[in-house]
Formats: sequence, C-alpha cells, structure tokens
Amino acid sequence: MKFSLAPSASMAGLLLALGYITPAVAQTFQRLGTCPQLGCIFPPTEAEFIAGGHFDIRLEVHAPANGSEAFNNGVPDENFKLTLDNGKGYSADVTSFFQIKDSPIEKWNFTYYEDLFARDAKTPTVVNVASKAYRNLTLYEPGQYQLKLSYYDTQQTLANWTVHEPAKKRCAKNVILFIGDGMPQSAITAARLIGHKQINGKYQSRMQLDNMDNVGLQMTHSIDSFIVDSANSATALYTGHKSTVNAISVYADSSPNPFDDPRVETIAELFQNQIGGPVGIVSTAFVADATPITLATHTRDRDLYAPLINQMLNGQTNFSWVDWKGPDVLFGGGAEQFKPGSGSPNKTNYYNAFADQGYQIVNDNTALQAADASKRTLGIFSTSNMAKWLDRHVYTDNLKNGTVSPLVNDTSPTYDQPGLAQMTLKAIDILKARDTENKGFFMMSEAASIDKMFHVLDYERALGELLELDDTVRQTIEHLEKIGELDETLIIVTADHGHGFDVFGSSDTKYLKMATTDRIKREAIGTYQNSGHSEYQVAPGSRPENQTVVTGPQGPNFPVQWDPRYALAAGFAAHPDVRETYSTDTRGPRVPATNSTSARNDYVASPSDQPQGFVINGTIPVSNSQGVHSLTDIPVFTKGPGSDKFKGVYDSTQIFFKMVEVLGLGTTKHVGK
Ligand SMILES: *[C@@H]1O[C@H](CO)[C@@H](O)[C@H](O)[C@H]1NC(C)=O
Ligand SMILES: *[C@@H]1O[C@H](CO)[C@@H](O)[C@H](O)[C@H]1NC(C)=O
Ligand SMILES: *[C@@H]1O[C@H](CO)[C@@H](O)[C@H](O)[C@H]1NC(C)=O
Ligand SMILES: *[C@@H]1O[C@H](CO)[C@@H](O)[C@H](O)[C@H]1NC(C)=O
Ligand SMILES: *[C@@H]1O[C@H](CO)[C@@H](O)[C@H](O)[C@H]1NC(C)=O
Ligand SMILES: *[C@@H]1O[C@H](CO)[C@@H](O)[C@H](O)[C@H]1NC(C)=O
Ligand SMILES: *[C@@H]1O[C@H](CO)[C@@H](O)[C@H](O)[C@H]1NC(C)=O
Ligand SMILES: *[C@@H]1O[C@H](CO)[C@@H](O)[C@H](O)[C@H]1NC(C)=O
Ligand SMILES: *[C@@H]1O[C@H](CO)[C@@H](O)[C@H](O)[C@H]1NC(C)=O
Ligand SMILES: *[C@@H]1O[C@H](CO)[C@@H](O)[C@H](O)[C@H]1NC(C)=O
Ligand SMILES: *[C@@H]1O[C@H](CO)[C@@H](O)[C@H](O)[C@H]1NC(C)=O
Ligand SMILES: [Zn+2]
Repeated sequence: MKFSLAPSASMAGLLLALGYITPAVAQTFQRLGTCPQLGCIFPPTEAEFIAGGHFDIRLEVHAPANGSEAFNNGVPDENFKLTLDNGKGYSADVTSFFQIKDSPIEKWNFTYYEDLFARDAKTPTVVNVASKAYRNLTLYEPGQYQLKLSYYDTQQTLANWTVHEPAKKRCAKNVILFIGDGMPQSAITAARLIGHKQINGKYQSRMQLDNMDNVGLQMTHSIDSFIVDSANSATALYTGHKSTVNAISVYADSSPNPFDDPRVETIAELFQNQIGGPVGIVSTAFVADATPITLATHTRDRDLYAPLINQMLNGQTNFSWVDWKGPDVLFGGGAEQFKPGSGSPNKTNYYNAFADQGYQIVNDNTALQAADASKRTLGIFSTSNMAKWLDRHVYTDNLKNGTVSPLVNDTSPTYDQPGLAQMTLKAIDILKARDTENKGFFMMSEAASIDKMFHVLDYERALGELLELDDTVRQTIEHLEKIGELDETLIIVTADHGHGFDVFGSSDTKYLKMATTDRIKREAIGTYQNSGHSEYQVAPGSRPENQTVVTGPQGPNFPVQWDPRYALAAGFAAHPDVRETYSTDTRGPRVPATNSTSARNDYVASPSDQPQGFVINGTIPVSNSQGVHSLTDIPVFTKGPGSDKFKGVYDSTQIFFKMVEVLGLGTTKHVGK
C-alpha cells in the first residue's frame, strides 16, 4: 500500500466556508517531523549507534518565508556551525572531529501545509533552506556525544547521541529474522483457533510460535508519527534508527532529491562488511517492496522501485558509502522490475544485470529446487506479489486469474510458485553452501501478505499466510537441525507493525446471507456463548460433535476446511466502508471498496464484494480504499543462542542492537586514516 503525505482535499469548500484560522502548531502535517526548531541535525537527538557503524550527517537551517513561523524574510543562515563533544573533554568542529573536508552549501525550498484548513485553502507555507551533508562517517569510541548546531547568531539546536560498545563475544553464528508483515498477536491468536483443534477447551496441537524459547514485546511507533508504514518500521528493525513514513534506512530530510537523505547502516551491510558472511533476503512480496528492499538500500521514497533494485545489486554510487556486494539470495515476486519495460532500471532486462554479476536466475519452484546451492541466486517467481497460500492450496482455480509469469515476453498466469517454506529452506541451503569459511549467515524471510491481505480486509487469506509463516518456522527448525546448524542459529520471529484486527465472535453465514435487512443480518453474529466452537477444524459435512481427527488436503496445523457455515466474525479498527458476511472469498483476494465518483477518490463498499452482507461504515477518510496499520505492541518470538536477550518490553530499534550484540558486530578499532 502506498502512503501520500498530503491527501487531496475532499471537503475543501465546506470547511473553507466555516472560516477557520490556521493554528501555529503542526500535527497532521509537519514542516519536518524530526526538526521542531529552525535548525536541524540528522541523526537527531536520541539517536543511538553501534561503534564502527556508518552514517551520514545532514544539517539544515530553515527560513519560512510565510506562515506562522515566518522568519528572517525567508533568508536562511548559511553560516551555521556544528560542533561535537565526545563527553571526554574533546570538542571540535565537525570537519576537525571527523578529519574531513568541509562540504559545499546546498540550497533549496519546499512547501508544506500547516494544517487541514491551509490545505483546503491551498495556502502552503514556503520554506527556504540552507544545508550541508557529511557522508560515510563512523564513531569508534563508545559513549555519550553532544552536538550543537549554531545558526542565526543566537539560535542553537542540540543533540545527544549514544554510541554503544560492541559485545565482547559473539554468541550466534547465524541469524534468521522472520517478519510477519502487519502481524499483531490478535492475528496469531485467531490463526491458532482456526489451525488447531481443541477438545473441551484444550488445544491438541499448538503453533510453532507458541513453542519458542522466549517472547518479548516491541513498540513500533516512528520518529515523527505514532503509526508506521513498513518502510520506517523496517528501518528501525534493520538500522536501530527510528525514521519517517516512506523512508528507507535514512533520516528524511527536506531536499527534493529522494536519494540524498542522510543514511544509516543496515544489519545486512554491517554483516557483509564486518563478518563477510552470506546474506539472504526472502519475501512473498515483490522484492522492491519496503520490508525486503530496506535491508540494503537507502532513500526517502520507498516507491522508487527501479532505482532501488539497481541499488540492491550495485550499492550506492552517487555519494560515498560503504561497499555493498549484493545479496547472496534474493527471492520473491516483482518481475515487473526485471522484465524490460517501464518498471525496470533503465527500462532494461534486469535479469541480465544480475546474471552479468554471476547470479543464477530461477523463475519457478522446479528451477528453484534444482538450483546450484553454491551460486548467488536471484529467484523471481511472479509479477507483483506472489500468490496467496489459500489460492495455492485450496482455491487453486484462482491462480488462473492471479499474478502473471515472471518470464520476459510471457503474460500467462503463473502456477509453479514456491511457498515461503520452499523459498526459505532453499535459501538456507544456498547460504550454508556459500559460507565456505564458516563465518555464518544472515537472512530475513518475510510473510508479506499477512499485511497485504489485512489491508483488503481478507481475514482468511491473511490468516492462511500467517499459518504458512508458522509452518515455515517449524520446517526451518527441523531443517537447521538436519544440517547441523540449529544450535548456532538465532531465530527471531516478529512483525513490523500491527493491524487493528480482532475476532469478536462467530457468524452464521447461512442465516446472514438469507436475512433480508441489515439489522436482521446482524442477528447472525454470535457473541459470547453464541460464538460456539471453531468450525474450521470440522471437516465439511460433519458436525461439531464428530470427534474424528481429520486432516485436510493442507496437512496438519492448518484448517481442515476454510469456508464453514459458522465462520469467524472478525473486525478491523480502521477500514473503508465495507460489506461483510464474514465468509471466505473463494474467488480470490477481496476488493472491499470501490471509487464511487469520477470526480475524486471517494470509496464506498464494493457492490460485488460479499453482496449479501451488511454494510459497516468506514472509520478513515473516504479517500482510502483499504484498511490501515495500527499502534499495538508487537510480539517478538526467539529461539536459539542469544534468545534470552529478547525478553521484556523494548523499542523496535533495540531489535537491531540485540542482533548486533548476538552477532558480535561493531568495532572500536579505527583502521585506515
Ligand atoms: C524555489 O526554488 C526554485 C528553484 O529551485 C525557484 O524557481 C522558486 O522560485 C523557489 N520558490 C520560492 C517560493 O522561493
Ligand atoms: C506563501 O506564499 C506563497 C507564494 O509564494 C503562497 O502561494 C502561499 O499561499 C503563501 N502561504 C501562506 C500560508 O500565506
Ligand atoms: C542532552 O542530555 C542532557 C543531560 O542528560 C540533558 O540535560 C539535555 O536536555 C539533553 N539535550 C537534548 C537536546 O535532549
Ligand atoms: C545520481 O546522479 C546522477 C547525475 O547527477 C543523477 O542523474 C541520478 O539520478 C542520481 N541517482 C541517484 C540514485 O540519486
Ligand atoms: C566509507 O568508509 C569506510 C571506512 O569506514 C571506507 O573503508 C570506505 O572506503 C568508505 N567508502 C567510500 C566510498 O569512500
Ligand atoms: C542505469 O544503469 C547504469 C549503469 O549502466 C547505472 O549506473 C544507473 O544507476 C542505472 N540507473 C538506474 C535508475 O537504475
Ligand atoms: C521479447 O520480445 C522482443 C520483441 O519481440 C524481442 O526482441 C526479445 O528478444 C524477446 N525477449 C526474450 C527474452 O524472448
Ligand atoms: C465424522 O467425520 C468423518 C470424517 O470426516 C465422516 O466420515 C463421518 O461421516 C462423520 N460422522 C458424522 C456423524 O458426521
Ligand atoms: C477468471 O478469468 C476468467 C476469464 O479471464 C473469467 O471468466 C472468470 O470470471 C475469472 N474468475 C474470477 C474469479 O475472477
Ligand atoms: C477515483 O476517481 C478519480 C477521478 O477519476 C481518480 O482521480 C482516481 O484516481 C480514482 N481512484 C482510483 C483508485 O482509481
Ligand atoms: C453509512 O453512512 C451513510 C452516510 O454516509 C448513512 O446514510 C448510512 O445510514 C450509514 N450506514 C450505516 C449502516 O451506518
Ligand atoms: Zn508492514
């Protein structure tokens, strides 16, 4: 899902007529989220680093030309000065401190709306900016640093930075980070209910996630908004720095160039640079999507897919930055960034660009399983996001209408797609085979469509993806055991953010569909004692009192049927207008809302989506066609060496520092100049 920073006006006329006055404090829109003063230091105060990690500094001085903060006739101070103090008696100008040359002044302007009234009135505030950037810097000495930016003669912006000491000892050889995108605990609970059988309230089997060594909770809020998207939440998990919506491993600055924002080093870059072991990236999304791509690319705008694929292969070229040699494994969807055309870098065949650098290319599951484990491998298995577990296993006819072939010049539907488990296990084999010097490997594996299916309120498909993730974790543990790596591998399973999803009862879908009015349809919702048992564990044609254990075509740990009469009644905290019967959509992923007017975005419940359901009016602006993320804290399940460090309640950024500690990353040794 994409996010726009300034949604277009829809109620402009009405609100203008009310004649409100613009207040001074920005909230809905911000001049620059991480910079409440007119002078900005990036990374800002509260930033934390690992000793020996790389980062850029960006300084900005703002001169609003109009609006409530108008200052200095809109002329920004160009004689600003940054000093750093290492807390141990050494204080110096930024160029002396890092022993670098000064950087040239850059100047630009930008506009923003102070609030919704200013947006409706189309009166943006103009801000002129003077700036400098310092690239590819490192702090080797742990401790507390104080920064002072002086500008406009008398004004100051201060920042406190913490540089953490590297661990004395590495405790895990490998780290596998599983991300269930948009997976709150409430979804895990619902998946357990439909995937596992109970007798008199006692589960006869459990989720793999229920059986990990330790569990913690992470707080996901971002640096300048309390709801995150997958880009800034991935940045927090991979770099230890909170960031802004749409930003990928950078702090978002105000400049027009989306590739010049101050960067921070990712866990994958650190691992490759400092340990030199193989790195794997696996996702069921298109591989240019935020969660996979954030591991080794940097931009303020996550939507710039083609340049990001180029960066994933070639690293950063325009401004000096740490070397990136490319991932050893990159698996997922998104063939539109590789087939020659408008979506691919330079509109060229980007399979060739990867092949030129020694990658073997695989485009279906058969080729994946047969691939040579000793080679760097690019596996692209569909255009766009890969097919959903429910359509690959239960409603297989839908694949005929699903994503198309990843092959150049082929637009036929694609059937032979691997699942998350097949991609993940093969990735482990490749990473192990490529780890010829026994340095260990790092891998991220993402169940992306938990989030994508929650966005379209397709609860059953989201839960199918979640059960597939759980099954993948189970198979990963078995596989690591078999190849002798389990004892040396830390497995982390978490999410990047939640969705406001929960189950509140059951739905008698037969009664609901036959009732004639919305108010009678709601009689079909069974709450409390009327919610009954989970019918997903009852084979079609049998009744709840039938205690025979049945395994469906999907195997254990999944429902034995997906479309029972008594279905989960589940809801969302934040959604567009929608019509619900709470039945599984057997025809493929849901499209809950459609554009009602050709004049502007105005989404109403789609007439073809669950037409026999009752209408639930939306809770978010009518310009939204999908549900949105929520605030809830996210569980962190861990198993293996170092897993006890993940107990407790902590900020999302600490996942990076805990992984760094477990892997012994970071250095206080300054080699070179
Ligand atoms: C902003 O900068 C552009 C050039 O970069 C210039 O053309 C424009 O006039 C400036 N706008 C204002 C309001 O200063
Ligand atoms: C600021 O100035 C620009 C023109 O330079 C104008 O379009 C805008 O409406 C002004 N904004 C405010 C808040 O006055
Ligand atoms: C930096 O830390 C000091 C000491 O804890 C504190 O007094 C000061 O307010 C902090 N400055 C900022 C900008 O947070
Ligand atoms: C790199 O710089 C070139 C030349 O200035 C520019 O055309 C290109 O867009 C830049 N690329 C990125 C990724 O910033
Ligand atoms: C970035 O800094 C590291 C040292 O920390 C150095 O080895 C590397 O060459 C630098 N990269 C560039 C492109 O200057
Ligand atoms: C286009 O290809 C060149 C190499 O031929 C590369 O340097 C550049 O970054 C590519 N541009 C994009 C947008 O990928
Ligand atoms: C795809 O079709 C174009 C135009 O017919 C042709 O030039 C190109 O060689 C084909 N590419 C492949 C990989 O078949
Ligand atoms: C119980 O389930 C089994 C397996 O599906 C089925 O063969 C049998 O007919 C069912 N019995 C009843 C009474 O529903
Ligand atoms: C799938 O596509 C076929 C033809 O393209 C169409 O007849 C059928 O209705 C579609 N099915 C669904 C579920 O969209
Ligand atoms: C809804 O309709 C408006 C007006 O045609 C259009 O601008 C907008 O892009 C449409 N939205 C979508 C998602 O098609
Ligand atoms: C939904 O909102 C519309 C107004 O936008 C209202 O007419 C309708 O009664 C509401 N429906 C329900 C079920 O609340
Ligand atoms: Zn996400």
